[in-house]
This record gives sequence, C-alpha cells and structure tokens, in this order.
Amino acid sequence: PGLALFDRRGRNVRDLRISVTDRCNFRCVYCMPREVFGDDYPFLPRADLLSFEEIVRVAQLFVARGVRKIRITGGEPLLRKDIDRLIGMLARLDGVEITLTTNGVLLPKLAQRLRNAGLHRVTVSLDALDDTLFRRMNDADYPVEKVLEGIEAARTAGLGPIKVNMVVKRGTNDSDIEAMATHFRHSGHILRFIEFMDVGASNGWKMDEVLPSRDVIGRIDRVHPLEPIDPNYEGEVAERWRYKDGAGEIGVISSVTQAFCSTCTRIRLSTEGKLYTCLFAQAGHDLRALLRSADEAASVDARLDAAIAQVWQQRDDRYSEIRTAETAALRKIEMSYIGG
Ligand code: GTP
Ligand code: 5AD
Ligand code: SF4
Ligand code: SF4
Repeated sequence: PGLALFDRRGRNVRDLRISVTDRCNFRCVYCMPREVFGDDYPFLPRADLLSFEEIVRVAQLFVARGVRKIRITGGEPLLRKDIDRLIGMLARLDGVEITLTTNGVLLPKLAQRLRNAGLHRVTVSLDALDDTLFRRMNDADYPVEKVLEGIEAARTAGLGPIKVNMVVKRGTNDSDIEAMATHFRHSGHILRFIEFMDVGASNGWKMDEVLPSRDVIGRIDRVHPLEPIDPNYEGEVAERWRYKDGAGEIGVISSVTQAFCSTCTRIRLSTEGKLYTCLFAQAGHDLRALLRSADEAASVDARLDAAIAQVWQQRDDRYSEIRTAETAALRKIEMSYIGG
C-alpha cells in the first residue's frame, strides 16, 4: 500500500469524484429527461447509499495512493442531508483539494456552511441566461435568477474563483453563447462551455446536436476577441482562453471533438459504492460489500486497498477516443448516477 498506481496506459490516479446522491431537483433535458426520470423513477433507497464514514474510508485509501483532488457530485449533491458534515470530514485529509459541482439553487442557504466546513471551491452549472430557455432546459421551472443568486452567495462565502459550466446543445441553447460570455466578462468567474456528450442511455444524444468547441470560440471571438492560454496543470480538462481586453478567461471542454483520455487521471465512486474508471463505463466495481463486512478493520482496509489497486491497474479506458454512433447507443451509466 502507499505506492502510486498506474493503469494500462500509464496514467496515475489523481482525482476522485464522489457522487453522494442520485437525486436532483432539476430535470435537465440532457441529463435527467422527465420522460425517463418521472415521479415513479426508482431512485436508490437510503440503505443502499454509502454513509459518510464509508465514503471517507474509501477516500482515505485513495489519498494514500496519490489522489490530490476530490470532487463531490450527484445528482445534486446539496440535496444530501448534512453534506457539510461530509465536507468537514474530507477536509481533514492531508493535501487534498475539495471541490463540489452543483446546480446552485441551494447555495444561498448552504454556501457559508460549506466554506466553514472546509470546501475550497464550487463549480455551478448554468445552461442559459434567457429565463424561458433556462426553464425549458432544467424542466423544473427554476429561474436563472436563483442560480445567479447561488453564484453570488458562493462568491461572498469565499468559494471562488467559481467555474460556471454551460452544456451546449446545438439548436437548443447555442443561441445564448454570446450572452453568457458577455454576462460573465469582468465577473471573476470562469465560464466553461461543454460539448454535449453521449453519457447515459436516456438523453437521446446525436452528433448533430454537438456544437464543436472551436465554433463556440469562433462565435465569442467575433464579439470579444480571444487568445489561448496555457493549461494550469497537466491533464486539465478545459482548454483555456482569455479576452484580449483583459475581461477575464473562459474555457472549453471538448470531450467529443478533442478527446482528453490520454491524460485522464479520474475515477468515480458512485452513491452506492461502486467504482467507475470512466464516465462512459457500462459496469462498476462494488466496494460496499467489503466496506460492510464484519471483519477486523485493518484487514478490511487492506482488502479495499487491494481492490482499488487492481481496478486502477487493469484500467484501459479511452472512450472518447473511440466513440462511434454504435458506442453512443450502448447502455451506459447515467450521469445523474455517477456525477459529472
Ligand atoms: P477543475 O479544473 O478542478 O475545475 O475541474 P474540471 O475541469 O475537471 O471541471 P469539472 O469537474 O467541473 O468538469 C467539467 C465537465 O467536464 C464535467 O461536468 C463533464 O461534463 C466533463 N468532464 C469532466 N471529467 C471528464 C472526463 O473524465 N471525461 C469526460 N468525457 N468528460 C469529463
Ligand atoms: N453532456 C455534457 N455535460 C453534461 N453534464 C451532465 N450531462 C451532460 C452531458 N450529457 C454536466 C452538467 C454539469 C455536470 C454535473 O455535468 O452540465 O456541469
Ligand atoms: Fe441535475 Fe446537474 Fe443533471 Fe441537471 S445536469 S439534472 S442539475 S445532476
Ligand atoms: Fe477519462 Fe473516460 Fe472521459 Fe476518456 S472518456 S477522459 S477515459 S472518463
């Protein structure tokens, strides 16, 4: 134990993304379409969720193996009861950055508590600035204003610089690209445009609905000239650009047109305790049975560590490099279950 882990493509494990609930108060059309995630959708029963203690136990083993960044996701992670208590427990692990991805509407209530617990940063999803369009996209009647209030609450609480994620669906919200860019210039927040991906099995993904990032950059550059800037770190998902007039920076995440699998150091722990080595995986590796075994703690830890090492060392994923119309139609794990 304690040694760095490499997968079959020479990548080591640096980022652990933990999903803490499969529920969400939104029904974003590209993630949890209402036709699939209706009133009778079978969300996980409480007993199936990992407890905070179980999550931290797994996280600790990953940190010993080199993880330096933990991201809390969902569903909507702020719906998980007492989430600030989990943040507090994770923040006590040495040398790890703790971040969280949220739709933002609960931030006015929770931002300060999360900051006090030790959360470092948040990423907030916002797909449109036009209120009618935004309500249509979240399909739960949340107004843009609620999310903007959440972003401001996070800033006030000291959770910045805040990243704002916009998933771009051609023909749905690409009309709002320039307005979003203009709105977040000079704000200190970093707006990032994400290519619509074929995650899950229910969002009806079609290549025609992907607007390549280079087109996003082209459209913004016409209004507010841009220039590329260097990545913050090796393997950064977003490609960075800045406004030539000094109004700040933006990013594009191009998992469809410019795959970044070769530097992918991410692993995901699902709400019910399965490890997924890729966002597009069709199956996970259960840790919960081991976590709940009655054996002596030290021996369980050793077996958990061995399982983690084995899962990572066997990893060969590079889905975005080999995507085709056929793979897009495969039955993959839902984004709302595994987190972003
Ligand atoms: P920071 O640099 O710490 O802000 O994290 P990040 O760039 O990883 O950002 P974030 O976690 O917010 O990821 C943004 C989006 O990128 C996610 O919501 C996904 O849509 C996409 N994404 C993140 N990781 C992966 C990945 O491993 N594979 C693919 N295909 N997409 C990813
Ligand atoms: N394509 C791209 N990004 C997605 N997200 C959810 N579903 C998709 C998809 N199909 C993003 C959300 C949010 C994070 C949780 O994942 O915008 O930022
Ligand atoms: Fe909820 Fe985020 Fe999925 Fe939208 S993208 S439905 S906010 S988990
Ligand atoms: Fe990593 Fe899979 Fe995304 Fe490629 S598609 S970057 S391997 S999570």
